[in-house]
Amino acid sequence: MTEHRIALIPGDGIGAEVLPPATAVLDRVGRRHGIRFRYDEFDWSCERYLREGAMMPADGLDRIRHHDAILLGAVGWPGVPDHVSLWGLLIPIRRQFDQYVNLRPIAVLPGVPSPVRAAEPGLEFVVVRENVEGEYSEVGGRFRRGFPDELAVQEAVFTRPGVTRILDYAFSLAATRRGVLTSATKSNGIVHTMPFWDELVEEAGERHPEVSWHQEHIDALVAKIVLDPARFDVIVGSNLFGDILSDLAAAVAGSIGVAPAANLNPEREFPSMFEPVHGSAPDIAGRGVANPLGAIWSAAMMVDHLGHPEASAEVRSAMADVLGNTAVRTPDLGGTATTESFTRELLDRL
Ligand code: NAI
Ligand code: MG
Repeated sequence: MTEHRIALIPGDGIGAEVLPPATAVLDRVGRRHGIRFRYDEFDWSCERYLREGAMMPADGLDRIRHHDAILLGAVGWPGVPDHVSLWGLLIPIRRQFDQYVNLRPIAVLPGVPSPVRAAEPGLEFVVVRENVEGEYSEVGGRFRRGFPDELAVQEAVFTRPGVTRILDYAFSLAATRRGVLTSATKSNGIVHTMPFWDELVEEAGERHPEVSWHQEHIDALVAKIVLDPARFDVIVGSNLFGDILSDLAAAVAGSIGVAPAANLNPEREFPSMFEPVHGSAPDIAGRGVANPLGAIWSAAMMVDHLGHPEASAEVRSAMADVLGNTAVRTPDLGGTATTESFTRELLDRL
């Protein structure tokens, strides 16, 4: 029996509604494979912020540093500015635990129609987003607040080691898949950081001759993803470009509710964090109709990361089984199932 200690952070809104389905799936698939998951739950959230003035306790990161992985629901709630919830919880975890890879696979699942005509069932690709530097930096400031000439300056920070390691991760991943990689750039408009990024892509390409790569400016790239998504397999981008690309990718796949994400520390010095792409969905929170698939798929990525690819694949195929062979689905996918009844169907098929 292998045991894994998992830190659970349900967070806000539907975050708390989609994690119980994910742990139920983990327990079910774990039993079949001799894996036991032990959970420690943390109430870090906007609710906690409003009560105690901080998203998490001062020693929060130390409390989860020795877990094998972190499973997170979603954070963010009206009344707490989004930059407070993001910078008070998610970004510290990503940065302090050096989770520099944000991996976001998408797939057009059977029975989940894509709004994009060219996106057929079976289509899949993966966005590899740089997760700890780039455009999301604290360097800069607001000046002359309230004056007519008020201004804001924000610096993007791209480092050779930071860009090199995300590119090497993406190229290595591409080598295990179709051997093709697309780099998102904007070196025609952003004249310092993006040409630097392009040069490092070229160097990475030389280290990975088995992968054929090309680059696209981000504006043209988003258009091509909509017009001809099948030509892509691994797309690598900076923190901002990767963020935008992965939401676009989730939309191409048909619903933000099914999209998963992994924040990986590939060296395994620190725990990695797994979370659905969607947020706390205040508009449907509390109604019991959230789609749990994004959280379940994220949990499946966690199982894979923890060294159990067969168990992970079983969860993926149970997902495809329910969607492809039944009409059971949550309202965001056009069905009438609740989170609970959908999960029950999935567990039965698992
Ligand atoms: P959102 O993803 O929460 O919701 C966008 C739309 O998609 C809503 O109409 C919602 O009902 C729907 N939706 C999302 N997930 C769904 C699911 N599992 N099942 C069915 N429908 C689903 O994004 P929004 O509204 O922009 O943000 C709400 C809050 O969540 C904000 O405070 C935001 O900062 C936060 N947020 C947190 C994220 C995270 O924790 N990683 C990511 C994105 C947003
Ligand atoms: Mg996003």
